[in-house]
Amino acid sequence: MSATLRQPAPDEHKEALARLFDRSAPTYERTGVSHFADLGRRLVEHAGLREGERVLDVGCGTGAVLVPAARAVGPRGSVTGVDLSPGMVERARAAITEEGLDNARALVADAETAHWQPDGPADGSLDAVLAGISMFFFPHPRAAAARYRRLLGPDGRLALSWWGEQDARWAPVFAASAPYGGASSHRLPPDSPFRSVEDLHTMLSEEGFGSVDTVERPCVTRFRGVRQWWQWVWSTAGRQFWESVPQERMHEAIAAVEAELSRLRAPDGSLTSRNIVRFTVARVVR
Ligand SMILES: C[S@@+](CC[C@H](N)C(=O)[O-])C[C@H]1O[C@@H](n2cnc3c(N)ncnc32)[C@H](O)[C@@H]1O
Repeated sequence: MSATLRQPAPDEHKEALARLFDRSAPTYERTGVSHFADLGRRLVEHAGLREGERVLDVGCGTGAVLVPAARAVGPRGSVTGVDLSPGMVERARAAITEEGLDNARALVADAETAHWQPDGPADGSLDAVLAGISMFFFPHPRAAAARYRRLLGPDGRLALSWWGEQDARWAPVFAASAPYGGASSHRLPPDSPFRSVEDLHTMLSEEGFGSVDTVERPCVTRFRGVRQWWQWVWSTAGRQFWESVPQERMHEAIAAVEAELSRLRAPDGSLTSRNIVRFTVARVVR
């Protein structure tokens, strides 16, 4: 990419993200592919939530982390989910109702600042801040980490999931599409702490977390076939790339990608991606 590529200002970036996830919201995790729900359950396990704990779920989306977190902390605990996208929050609220959870709520708010009226969290009032596949979208993750550190009490944890190495077998698929579009919600700024485990650990330690650990685990996602893969892509932030492909080049772009997908298909037509997901837990140690 050209070095002159303009980085959007934070407010513009957040507004665009909110609209992007609003467009994903109707089909997010509804294409028959279990992806974020599985990652959400696993993040909650890594966070080691206990009964009665008070939890903030930043970038809660449709509730993939929020729902298992609310179950883990039980009726004496509480979970507040916040997300920029009203469409995602509407789905999270529906999930809270469907699951009969009296200890959870979802709000439209900027989780990066975690500062909202009238009842934003007070310093030292939380046991855990959870961020499932969300914190690398923030323009200022260091400032967010500093804020979360202040919100956490003794024994508090910040637990987040983010991407590690991506399945090299799929690189030709993304290379085939690259010439046709421009936008990508996943492009990290040059100073992002999410460029390496070491950078993230340094940032979290500098912001006052006493112990930081990351484990890398497989994230295996299976698609029944090419059609389901397309449906899944359009249900995620990955749709941003495809929205940027000019209509007159769309057929050509699809054909280029499907030629590569055909090389990845198993004899039954299914597709599997094996990526690495990282679970980082940063603890307050007094
Ligand atoms: C990939 S989704 C993950 C959602 C959910 N945690 C999950 O595991 O399925 C990322 C979410 O982060 C939200 N997000 C990104 N930046 C945000 C911010 N500054 N404040 C609140 N939400 C944000 C997006 O709107 C989106 O719903």
